[in-house]
Amino acid sequence: MKRSIIITGGAGFIGSHVVRLFVNKYPEYRIINLDKLTYAGNLANLRDVEAKPNYRFVKMDICDFEGVFNLMQEEQVDGIIHLAAESHVDRSIKDPFTFARTNVMGTLSLLQAAKAYWESLPEKYEDKRFYHISTDEVYGALQMTHPEGIEPPFTTKASSGKHHLAYGEKFFTEDLKYQPHSPYSAAKASSDHFVRAFHDTFGMPTIVTNCSNNYGPYQFPEKLIPLFINNIRHRKPLPVYGRGENVRDWLYVEDHARAIDTIFHKGTIAETYNIGGFNEWKNIDIIKVLINTVDRLLGRPEGEDMDLITYVTDRAGHDLRYAIDSTKLQRELGWEPSLQFEEGIEKTVRWYLENQAWMDNVTSGDYQKYYEDMYAGR
Ligand code: NAD
Ligand code: DAU
Repeated sequence: MKRSIIITGGAGFIGSHVVRLFVNKYPEYRIINLDKLTYAGNLANLRDVEAKPNYRFVKMDICDFEGVFNLMQEEQVDGIIHLAAESHVDRSIKDPFTFARTNVMGTLSLLQAAKAYWESLPEKYEDKRFYHISTDEVYGALQMTHPEGIEPPFTTKASSGKHHLAYGEKFFTEDLKYQPHSPYSAAKASSDHFVRAFHDTFGMPTIVTNCSNNYGPYQFPEKLIPLFINNIRHRKPLPVYGRGENVRDWLYVEDHARAIDTIFHKGTIAETYNIGGFNEWKNIDIIKVLINTVDRLLGRPEGEDMDLITYVTDRAGHDLRYAIDSTKLQRELGWEPSLQFEEGIEKTVRWYLENQAWMDNVTSGDYQKYYEDMYAGR
């Protein structure tokens, strides 16, 4: 079946991997990347696909109801994969309003535009899909406890039957109640509720997924992994929040993109799927892996840069532990992560070291000129 799909936020970190996967894997689809190009949007993330005939970039704000409606009509859009958002927790603490505008009002505007367009068609919602990408942070924070008092991390068995290391006995499952703590996660939670409300009220065919922390190429260097790789390379201090004891559950970004592909095509309407790889790490342990890997790949004695670790004031409201239970997705749709963390981190560090020009372009701010140069006169 031919499809015409808008991917919002396609110039960002995860969005660029999703766009790349869809453009290359489905040459018969029309892929429209709708992105406002905020500080987090970078068209250089998509240089390898920008000339493909099934790809189109449109610079647009998701809050622009009319613009989105007209684009949907022009391109006869039957699917939306919605990733555009303000995504950085620290920024949301400084400027919550921007997060409410984009993540809540932007999502609502996009829903309204999709509703208006699809309801104007004779077949209405048939074969349509509004897929909203959300985060595990909406579930709040988990404790680091074991019923028998065993010190974490300990080995446990997922309901899928697989063993993995965990820092607590509870996990985020799809039926948990939402308990967001940061303005970022509160705004994402609100957008999730709107998406579900559009299914329940208007019958819009929606799907929501909640994923854990992603890592990999093209991540904006305000986030832990790219920021620290770049700082280690340049021997700059590594600002570890609090005592570095917080736990995050890490997934390689291409595995997330593959999950999105699977769920977009095979997921059940109105369902929620959690996405994660049962891969919990304390921040400080990841940081040590990053230091050893960067040192080794740069030919420095391994661990030489441990003294860059600098403990700083903790993030306000810092969630202690995230851990996703992705059993439902694995069992019902057969998705599995493809990479072990050690492989993924090695690949990621290599990518940032080999793509210093990309990093310099971002840290200097030059990447924002790319759009103007590329689209000048068109
Ligand atoms: P990102 O910050 O790297 O990219 C966001 C993109 O959205 C950018 O290209 C930006 O220009 C665009 N954008 C922002 N506001 C816009 C607007 N008003 N209109 C149009 N485009 C706009 O984000 P990311 O890390 O790739 O995250 C993508 C999505 O996945 C987000 O919805 C986020 O909540 C979710 N998510 C992220 C992670 C993660 O670890 N990064 C994990 C789970 C879920
Ligand atoms: O869990 C999914 C979420 O993961 C996504 O929804 C968010 O969009 C994404 O940004 C990410 O949120 P985190 O806050 O977990 O990611 P971040 O990379 O900002 O931080 C990871 C951990 O590292 C967190 O415990 C805070 C800590 N940290 C982060 C930075 C930037 C530091 O100790 N020092 C730092 O400088």
